[in-house]
Amino acid sequence: MAKMEVKTSLLDNMIGVGDMVLLEPLNEETFINNLKKRFDHNEIYTYIGNVVISVNPYRPLPIYSPEKVEDYRNRNFYELSPHIFALSDEAYRSLRDQDKDQCILITGESGAGKTEASKLVMSYVAAVCGKGAEVNQVKEQLLQSNPVLEAFGNAKTVRNDNSSRFGKYMDIEFDFKGDPLGGVISNYLLEKSRVVKQPRGERNFHVFYQLLSGASEELLNKLTLERDFSRYNYLSLDSAKVNGVDDAANFRTVRNAMQIVGFMDHEAESVLEVVAAVLKLGNIEFKPESRVNGLDESKIKDKNELKEICELTRIDQSVLERAFSFRTVEAKQEKVSTTLNVAQAYYARDALAKNLYSRLFSWLVNRINESIKAQTKVRKKVMGVLDIYGFEIFENADNSFEQFIINYCNEKLQQIFIELTLKEEQEEYVREGIEWTHIDYFNNAIICDLIENNTNGILAMLDEECLRPGTVTDETFLEKLNQVCATHQHFESRMSKSSRFLNDTSLPHSCFRIQHYAGKVLYQVEGFVDKNNDLLYRDLSQAMWKAGHSLIKSLFPEGNPAKINLKRPPTAGSQFKASVATLMKNLQTKNPNYIRCIKPNDKKAAHIFSEALVCHQIRYLGLLESVRVRRAGYAFRQAYEPCLERYKMLCKQTWPHWKGPARAGVEVLFNELEIPMEEYSFGRSKIFIRNPRTLFKLEDLRKQRLEDLATLIQKIYRGWKCRTHFLLMRKSQIVIAAWYRRYAQQKRYQQIKSSTLVIQSYIRGWKARKILRELKHQKRCEEAATTIAAYWHGTQVRREYRKFFRANAGKKIYEFTLQRIVQKYFLEMKNKMPSLSPIDKNWPPRPYLFLDSTHKELKRIFHLWRCKKYRDQFTDQQKLIYEEKLEASELFKDKKALYPSSVGQPFQGAYLEINKNPKYKKLKDAIEEKIIIAEVVNKINRANGKSTSRIFLLTNNNLLLADQKSGQIKSEVPLVDVTKVSMSSQNDGFFAVHLKEGSEAASKGDFLFSSDHLIEMATKLYRTTLSQTKQKLNIEISDEFLVQFRQDKVCVKFIQGNQKNGRVPTCKRKNNRLLEVAVP
Ligand SMILES: Nc1ncnc2c1ncn2[C@@H]1O[C@H](COP(=O)(O)OP(=O)(O)O)[C@@H](O)[C@H]1O
Ligand SMILES: [Mg+2]
Repeated sequence: MAKMEVKTSLLDNMIGVGDMVLLEPLNEETFINNLKKRFDHNEIYTYIGNVVISVNPYRPLPIYSPEKVEDYRNRNFYELSPHIFALSDEAYRSLRDQDKDQCILITGESGAGKTEASKLVMSYVAAVCGKGAEVNQVKEQLLQSNPVLEAFGNAKTVRNDNSSRFGKYMDIEFDFKGDPLGGVISNYLLEKSRVVKQPRGERNFHVFYQLLSGASEELLNKLTLERDFSRYNYLSLDSAKVNGVDDAANFRTVRNAMQIVGFMDHEAESVLEVVAAVLKLGNIEFKPESRVNGLDESKIKDKNELKEICELTRIDQSVLERAFSFRTVEAKQEKVSTTLNVAQAYYARDALAKNLYSRLFSWLVNRINESIKAQTKVRKKVMGVLDIYGFEIFENADNSFEQFIINYCNEKLQQIFIELTLKEEQEEYVREGIEWTHIDYFNNAIICDLIENNTNGILAMLDEECLRPGTVTDETFLEKLNQVCATHQHFESRMSKSSRFLNDTSLPHSCFRIQHYAGKVLYQVEGFVDKNNDLLYRDLSQAMWKAGHSLIKSLFPEGNPAKINLKRPPTAGSQFKASVATLMKNLQTKNPNYIRCIKPNDKKAAHIFSEALVCHQIRYLGLLESVRVRRAGYAFRQAYEPCLERYKMLCKQTWPHWKGPARAGVEVLFNELEIPMEEYSFGRSKIFIRNPRTLFKLEDLRKQRLEDLATLIQKIYRGWKCRTHFLLMRKSQIVIAAWYRRYAQQKRYQQIKSSTLVIQSYIRGWKARKILRELKHQKRCEEAATTIAAYWHGTQVRREYRKFFRANAGKKIYEFTLQRIVQKYFLEMKNKMPSLSPIDKNWPPRPYLFLDSTHKELKRIFHLWRCKKYRDQFTDQQKLIYEEKLEASELFKDKKALYPSSVGQPFQGAYLEINKNPKYKKLKDAIEEKIIIAEVVNKINRANGKSTSRIFLLTNNNLLLADQKSGQIKSEVPLVDVTKVSMSSQNDGFFAVHLKEGSEAASKGDFLFSSDHLIEMATKLYRTTLSQTKQKLNIEISDEFLVQFRQDKVCVKFIQGNQKNGRVPTCKRKNNRLLEVAVP
C-alpha cells in the first residue's frame, strides 16, 4: 500500500517563527526573543532561509534518533520543523540527484556546538547513504578519524571541555550512486602555543593526559615516562583531571581508532615516541653561565632528561646540546655562530616543542588522508564539511594574531556567503523571470581587502616588516600600519595620522581596531611579528633531521644540509592567507550550506539563555545581516502547487478543487483576497511574496478558515456517521425480521405437517382395521362353507361308497396297526434283553403307555424264566440244599435276628467227620441210620446254666447226644418225642428242645443248647421231623419261654447284656424259676 503522504509545512505548529526571514518586525530584540522562545521550547534550530541557526542545548535531546533520521529522509527542506537533518538531507540529495558538490560551513564560537554539528551531519549522511561491507568500511574509517584528530587537536578550555584547537575541513567523496568512497581532511592553524603554555583552568592537548593515564607500565618504561602529571612542566596541573572524562579509556579508544583508520603498529608507536619527546622537552632547564667576552651563555641544568630524549629520538646528544646553545646564521657563504642566553635557550626549546608537535599533527592528518582517500579514479561528488572557529572577540584587547587570522577567515566566509546567496537569489530571479531590483546590503569585500591586499593589506605589511633587515618589533609594525591604512574607513588606530581617534580612550596605544562586518575588534599588536615569523633556529631543525627516528627526520626536511635554502620559510600569515584562498576557491565551486552555532551561556549549562551573550554572537556572526540579505528582494517564495494546496480553501473558486494550472489558481486566489499587487510577483514556477506580513495574513485567514472547515467536516462526518449507522441498523433489522419470519413459518408448517400425519395415520389405521375385519369375516364364511361342503361331501361319498367297505375295516386296521406295534416292541425287546442273572434288576423302559401292564408282566415272566433256567442247572444235592435254605427262609425270615447271617452259610450237616475220625468208631458203629447232623454244641447245665460240649447227632428217627471226648452216647430221643423247639428273636444261638411229657426221654427234662449253626439245625430238625412223623414241629420264637426241668418249669429270659464277656452270650441260673441269658 502506498504510504499516504501527509503534506506538512514549516509553518505548521510554529513556535515563534521557524524562519527568521518571516520575522516581523526585524530587529535585534525580536530576533533574540524569537530564538529564546524557541530555545525554551527545545527548538534549538531556526532557519534563516536555508541557513540553520543552532543553539547549543548543553544536554542530550531526543531529536537525533533513527526515527528522526527517517522522518527527515527525502523530505523537502521547509516541510518539517527546522533541523540540522533537513539541511544534511537537502545537501546530500542535491549532491546525489543534481550532481552538485556541496559544502557545509559550520561556524560559531568555541563551545557553540560546531564539532557536534559536523558529527551530526556526518552521521546523518552515513545513515542515509548506501550500505554494504565495503561502503561500511569507508564510513567507519571516515568516522573513526574523528577520535584520532580530537585526541591530538582538542583540549579542555574554559569554554569547552573538548574544544577543537584547529580548523578542520573535510571533503567526503561519493560515487554517482551517493555511496561514500573516501575523504580528504585539511587542517588549519593548530593552536600550537598550547603545547608549551596553557591559560588558567585549561589543559594541554588531550593526548598527553591520555598517554600518561592509559599507557601500560611497559609502554611508559619504553618511553621513559612517568605516570605522574606533575612531573612535566608542559602539563598545567590545575585542571589535569576533567569531570566526566576518562583519559585512560579514551586512550584505548584512540589506539583502536588508529588501528581502524589504518595505522601500522610501528607508526602508532613512533607517534607516541614523538609525543613523549615533546613532553620531555619541557623538562629541559637552563642556567646562565658567564663567558669572558661578556656575552651571556646558558647551560643545560640536568643532562639526564636530554639524554633520555636523545635515546628516544635517536639523536646524538652533543648535537642537540649544541643546538640549544648556539644559533648559526648563514649569509652568503658565511656562517656566523652566536651563543644563546637563557631566555633564548628557553625560546628555542619551546619553539622546537611547538614545531615538533604541530608538524606531527600535520603528519597525522596526511597519514589519515592516505588511509581514507578514495581508491578509484572515477569522477567523484564531494561534500565538504568545514568546522572552523567563528568570529572571536575577546574583551580587554586580548585579541592577538590568532584572532586576527581567524576573523580574517570568517570575513572571507561571510563574503562567500553574501556572494553565493546573492548569486543564487539573482539566478533564481532570472530563472523565474522576475525583474532584479537592487538589494541594499553591506558588502564586506572592503574589509577583506584591508587585510589581504597584496600591496597594502595588513598581512602584507606584517610580512614586509618581518623580512625587513634591522630591528623589527611589534611597535614598528604598528607604526607602519598607521601610515598605510590610516585612511581606510574600517581601520582605527590612536596613532594614525587622522585625528579621528586621537581622543578615543577605549583604544590603547599598542592596539589597532578593525571594524569587521560583525563588529569592531581591538587587536593587541604584541606578538604579531614573532607569531608571524614562527621561527625555529636552523641548528634545531638540522639536529632534528639528524635523528635516527625516521618519523622525526621526515618532519624536518628543511634541516637537510644538502637542500640548504637561504630563502626564509613562508610566514604564518602568508601561509594562512594562501590556505584560506585555496579553501575559498574550493568552496566557491560548491553549493554552500550554512550552520551557525550559538552558545546560549558561558556556564556550559542547559536551559540558560543569556541574552547578552547571544546578542554578542548574533552580531559578530552577522545573522541580522544574513536575514537582510535573504529578505532583500522577496521574503518568501513557494512553488505554485504547494501554495495553492495550502491556501485554496480561502477562495470559493479554488475550493475544494481547482481544475487548471496551479499558477492560474494562485492568481485567482490572490485577486480574490485583494492582496496589493506590489506585495507579490509571479515567477515561472513560484510565487514570490515580498513581505512576511502578507504571508502571515494568509496564514491567519487559513487558520480561521480551517476552523470553519473543521466544523463543517465534523458536521458532515457526524451526519454521515449517524446515517450509515442508521442504515446499517435498518438493514440489520430487515435481515433479522426476515430470518425470524422464516423461522416462525417453518415452525408452523412443521406443526401442521405433523398433525396431518397423525390424523392421516389414524384414518388409515381405522380403514385398514375395517377391511381386515371384513376380510376375516369373509374368510371365516369361506372356511365354514368349505367345512360344511367337506362334511357334506364326506357324507355323500360315505353314503355312496358304504357298499364298497366292510363294516369292520377300521377294527382290522386298528388291530393290524396294534400288531405291528407289538411286533416291533418284541423285536426291539429282543435286542434290549438284560443279562440272565436272576439278581439283575435292569429292565428296558416301556415304549408305549398302553403296553404298561404287558411290559411289567413280561418282566415278571422273564424273571421267572431265567430263575428256572438257573435252577435247572442245579444237581440233586444242590437242590436239596436250596430246599433247605428255602425252608429256613420260610421259618425264620423276619423272625429271628440271627437269620440273615445264616443265608450265606452253606448247610453242611455233618460237620464232624465221624466216619473218618477213629475216635468216634464206637459211636459210628452204634448208629446204623443215616446221619443228618453231626456237630458239637454247648449243652446248658440245667442246674447252674454252665455249658458243656456235646456231640449233637440227628438221624432219620432220633436225636442223639454224645460225649465229645469219648464219643459215648449220653442221650437218645426219638423224633416223635420232640414237641417243640424254642428260641429267642435275637441274634443268639440258644435254643430249647421241648420233649413230650411223659416220654422216657422227658424224665430229665427239656434240653437247652447253644450252637453256631442254630438256623441249619432247627431247619433240618423241622424237615426230618416232618418227613418221619408227618407232623409239623412247633417252632416258637420268643424272648421268654418256659422249659421243663424234671418237675420244674423254668423260664428262660433273654435280656440285653453288656459286652463284658465279648460277643458270647452268657447264661445264668437266677433262681428256680428263671434262667437269664444275656445277649450282647
Ligand atoms: N546538538 C547538541 N546537542 C547536545 N549537546 C551539544 C550539542 N552541540 C553541542 N553540545 C554540547 O556542547 C559541547 C561543545 O560542543 P562542540 O561541538 O565541541 O563545540 P565547538 O566545536 O563549537 O567548540 C559538546 O561537548 C556537547 O556537550
Ligand atoms: Mg570544536
